[in-house]
Amino acid sequence: MDRKRSVKNLLSAGLHKLRTRDDDTFAAGDRQARVIAVAAQKGGVGKTTTTVNLATALVAHHGQRVLVVDIDPQGHVASALRESLRPGTVTLSEVLLAQRPRDLMEAVVESAIEGLALTAPDKRLNETDAQLTSRVGREHILSTALATARTHFDTILIDCPPNLGNLTLNALMAADEVLVPCDLSILAFEGVADLLGTVETVNLRLRHDLQVLGILRTRVDVRTRTINETIGDALIENYGELMLDTVIPANSALAKAQACGLSIFQFQSRSRGAVAYRALAGEVVARRAARGAGAQTA
Ligand SMILES: Nc1ncnc2c1ncn2[C@@H]1O[C@H](COP(=O)(O)OP(=O)(O)O)[C@@H](O)[C@H]1O
Ligand SMILES: [Mg+2]
Repeated sequence: MDRKRSVKNLLSAGLHKLRTRDDDTFAAGDRQARVIAVAAQKGGVGKTTTTVNLATALVAHHGQRVLVVDIDPQGHVASALRESLRPGTVTLSEVLLAQRPRDLMEAVVESAIEGLALTAPDKRLNETDAQLTSRVGREHILSTALATARTHFDTILIDCPPNLGNLTLNALMAADEVLVPCDLSILAFEGVADLLGTVETVNLRLRHDLQVLGILRTRVDVRTRTINETIGDALIENYGELMLDTVIPANSALAKAQACGLSIFQFQSRSRGAVAYRALAGEVVARRAARGAGAQTA
């Protein structure tokens, strides 16, 4: 019955599923997704807020098809977008822990926002992180599972948990780029250095080519200007061009939208938070275009 429901889900999503003799496989699409992990070791810095609002901005303002993969056991993406969520039947844990490689497309559900797909919330992910420790090739499972999804979406955003466990490692290995939110607190500032160190280790030890899309200043509050400025200056001094130009202000509309299960564009499209996330989407798209041009002339 599960399989029937899952096929129905996928058909309603307009995704083609072809059956082969041994297994179910998904037909490849004609897109070439850019996979971005949104990661920071500290909680509360705006990872989920950034994932959800960047995703919806790319859909609404750049006409992209976007997939959000939520690998945080807290399942905050689903609650932040619960007004647009549709039920799924296969969980990420089932895909990641399967004995034989499974396709992440099985766990994908379209949201009520046209062009935006999600993985359903998965409360088992905490156990999954621990269970992955004993799996051969454990860092590569998500990367392999994402192969077909890459051909169906323009951007895939992975919302990471606030630690550097097996799931985050899988996200970094599956990603082309990492986006690092930093809320200008001292702990978040220190967390940026740790994360960039992890990126270097992943690239050296696991022979990956993960790029840093940028460090994003989040929850910037004009009322705590002195602290903000000190840490903001230290970020610029230490990380220079890795800093994104867009700055996300502290804006209560962003928190209220999340509490209501809506993207900021559905909740208050003219709020400062909405303006900032629209600008971020523009900068993210422009950075890709600049990189593409650089690669062509290299
Ligand atoms: N720019 C912002 N302004 C105001 N509140 C924010 C902002 N960004 C995030 N928040 C709120 O802060 C809390 C933590 O944000 P969240 O995105 O869930 O962080 P993380 O995913 O890094 O743990 C949430 O309640 C969210 O609504
Ligand atoms: Mg989160």
